[in-house]
Amino acid sequence: MTAPKKLFIKTYGCQMNVYDSERMAEALGDSYVETKTADDADMILLNTCHIREKAAEKVYSELGRLKPLKALNPDLKIGVTGCVAQAEGAEIMRRQPAVDLVVGPQSYHRLPAMEARVRSGQTALDTDFPEEDKFEKMKGRGKAVRAPSAFLTVQEGCDKFCAFCVVPYTRGAEVSRPASRVLTEARELVENGVREITLLGQNVNAYHGAGSEGADYTLARLIRELAKVDGLERIRYTTSHPNDMDDALIAAHGEVDKLMPYLHLPVQSGSDRILKRMNRSHTADSYLRLIERIREARPDIVMSGDFIVGFPEETDADFEATMDLVREVKYGYAYSFKYSTRPGTPAAERTLVDAAVADERLQRLQGLITEQQRSIQNAMVGRDLSVLVEKTGRETAQMVGKSEYLHSVHIDNATAKVGEVARVRIVDAKTNSLTAVEL
Ligand code: 5AD
Ligand code: SF4
Repeated sequence: MTAPKKLFIKTYGCQMNVYDSERMAEALGDSYVETKTADDADMILLNTCHIREKAAEKVYSELGRLKPLKALNPDLKIGVTGCVAQAEGAEIMRRQPAVDLVVGPQSYHRLPAMEARVRSGQTALDTDFPEEDKFEKMKGRGKAVRAPSAFLTVQEGCDKFCAFCVVPYTRGAEVSRPASRVLTEARELVENGVREITLLGQNVNAYHGAGSEGADYTLARLIRELAKVDGLERIRYTTSHPNDMDDALIAAHGEVDKLMPYLHLPVQSGSDRILKRMNRSHTADSYLRLIERIREARPDIVMSGDFIVGFPEETDADFEATMDLVREVKYGYAYSFKYSTRPGTPAAERTLVDAAVADERLQRLQGLITEQQRSIQNAMVGRDLSVLVEKTGRETAQMVGKSEYLHSVHIDNATAKVGEVARVRIVDAKTNSLTAVEL
């Protein structure tokens, strides 16, 4: 038997890419083992993100840096996967001839065949949107011992067409995986040590996977079924659109103990004028009322969001409306981005906000968000929380994990082991983590 080749996957962008990278490594099977550096790899895959301009540019500069490795290892093959692969296709090989393989997110089940092709000295390109369920055609989740927290993609693509966003073009129309397959995969993960599952989808709360008896499952129903899986302690989901937060899902936040009190619900802007131009089909007020209802169901829920500043034609007043909305919601976490033009999207044709103005707005928004994050994190001091232990810490007898609110928690003098849920008392708050003792 020949020694396995070495595989290095570098993942950019969202959590769905993290999940896809794991599935791709599994798909390539026993002929590859993963390595942590590009230097000794026989196959390098860059699993790319196309959401903002800088993300795509980073891929080309990384490819430029990797190219010389081919002179040192004649067996080295370089592939580009993910959303840049989907968007740019053959252009990637034209711009960087060192690339052997380009595969878009919908065709990952074809990766093993493509790998064989590049090993025979040819190139391979696939950016189709095939009909079949790629995850079903890929290898199962194997018997590897896993980290206690895992991602599970249940839905892909998006039909919302926000005016700034490439997702509907790179990941395609919205498709949900059948509920039975999701549940089987969840059970496999739990058998292999997983205690927390984060259900993933670009629009995960629009999930409508086929159920065995005909009628579709909603996300709320899927969560209730998952909660019945013995050994699974925690359920999360991300990322959601306000318009798909139905009553059953809101109720689940109050009723399903395993569903964690954390919700990522992007709003993008607090100005109705801009929301309309973004094609978001909700208003600032409808978003705020929605959060009120969610907080009625689960008063301690920690909210998280995404914001874009400097969207074309955003005025000072529009931006102030965003600041007002943030002040009202009080986010535990929030991610803010300067608008980045994506060719092919409706907003790409519009007049840009002056870059210096957009920079200043971004700084102000980030300042406010950081203040809110800190104050919510600091308010955890003195509280008794649950921590899913994920790894050992730097200090002796220290363990590190996540609270139900997703804060990083360091437990000193811990007896709890990786994979266990410890009851702790929070004793201190640092910049990016909390310190705790076991109860
Ligand atoms: N420019 C800036 N930010 C963007 N996002 C999506 N598209 C763009 C863009 N063109 C942000 C949105 C989204 C997050 C994943 O990325 O806030 O929720
Ligand atoms: Fe993009 Fe999200 Fe809007 Fe879909 S809902 S178009 S993924 S920002």
